[in-house]
Amino acid sequence: MKILVVGQGGREHAIVWKLSANKQNEIYCAPGNAGISALAKCIEITKIEELANFALKESIDLTIVGPEVYLVNGIVDEFEKSGLTIFGPRKNAAIIEGSKIFAKTLMAKHGIPTANFQVFDDPIPAQKYILRVDRPLVVKADGLAAGKGAIVAKSKQDALKAVDDIMNKKIFGEAGNSVVIEDFLEGREVSVLSFCDGKTIVPMVSSMDYKKAHDSDIGPNTGGMGSVAPCPYYSKEISEYVYHEILLKTVRALEDEGIEYKGVLYAGLMITRDGPKVLEFNCRFGDPETQVILMLLETDLAEILQAVFEGNLSACPVKWSNEKAVCVVLASGGYPDPYKIGFEITGLEKTKDDMVIFHAGTKKANGRILTNGGRVLNICARSHSYKEARNIVYDAIKNIYFENMHYRKDIALNL
Ligand code: AMP
Ligand code: GLY
Repeated sequence: MKILVVGQGGREHAIVWKLSANKQNEIYCAPGNAGISALAKCIEITKIEELANFALKESIDLTIVGPEVYLVNGIVDEFEKSGLTIFGPRKNAAIIEGSKIFAKTLMAKHGIPTANFQVFDDPIPAQKYILRVDRPLVVKADGLAAGKGAIVAKSKQDALKAVDDIMNKKIFGEAGNSVVIEDFLEGREVSVLSFCDGKTIVPMVSSMDYKKAHDSDIGPNTGGMGSVAPCPYYSKEISEYVYHEILLKTVRALEDEGIEYKGVLYAGLMITRDGPKVLEFNCRFGDPETQVILMLLETDLAEILQAVFEGNLSACPVKWSNEKAVCVVLASGGYPDPYKIGFEITGLEKTKDDMVIFHAGTKKANGRILTNGGRVLNICARSHSYKEARNIVYDAIKNIYFENMHYRKDIALNL
């Protein structure tokens, strides 16, 4: 099969890696990175129309999209117009990630558990609301903000500043024209990704990512500094509740609104004392959750994704390993704040059988591999225990070097 993967991060490297296990697959990636280029032909195309033209010209059998921006901007609709097979939700369904107001309103209307919230399109009533309530709050820009749009306020002052930053200073641009202000939820976070073909939902193995930049969950939120699968706090009982009360209800709710959901439905959940509640929905694979999830997938990935496209997921058994997988992100010094790129990476060749290095922000130049982004590498291992997988990862990291490299030392610690 000829497959095109769109994106350039660790998530896309993991997808390409999994697809390449089937030697019949011929894989392209747009634009890819240094690691991906060892497994796929990388092409420098980023515009939706040009990607569709490429897929037509090369007779691509299946396209898989990583980043949400493409989905929210309608890449699936554009490909389908040309009769191409593409995995992911259409624009009218990707809005579940593209607009927090849409997602929250849908949940409220259909009784899907989530934090209480208010919506504002004017900063003055938003700030009056903050002054009136006496609970910890989270302020969220309505639109896409590269994973940075949710500001957990430690004080009223913080919340007022968040509204000012988002709505007046427009730190996330147009995404901040409106905000959701919701109650802060306490508990443990879990990422539940699922395959969905519009009717059938097949949850993937659960996972969790480590969002804060530094050990002990200190520092600013990042795209994710590490991940594990399965999530040790996600019991069978909780997973059944989530399947019926969140995943299934959401897909049915969308159907009620005349929207068919096909692709990955990713529920970011907080397991609170009152049960699981939705923090957010994403319309795509998570990063770095996908890295650990795909290490545990035993079924051919392309087969599942094609079954989703064809609306035939119920006939496609999806099997998972019982092992544990751990991923540690090596980031550029300074990330998620501004950082420098272009440093040479050494020590990548010492990979063992039970581990994989997924590249994120890397590029090749004159035979060397250089840093080219905030999150640079994902060091991943799978084993019978979290402890053993963690040991393999941290042993491998001892060999890897680039200037100003920083990473968390507490991923999968004490699990
Ligand atoms: P979101 O983009 O909505 O997923 O938010 C990003 C991160 O902010 C989440 O992964 C949580 O760590 C945190 N967060 C978001 N909403 C809440 C909430 N209501 N209560 C506590 N933490 C939250
Ligand atoms: N790791 C969080 C995300 O992919 O949105």
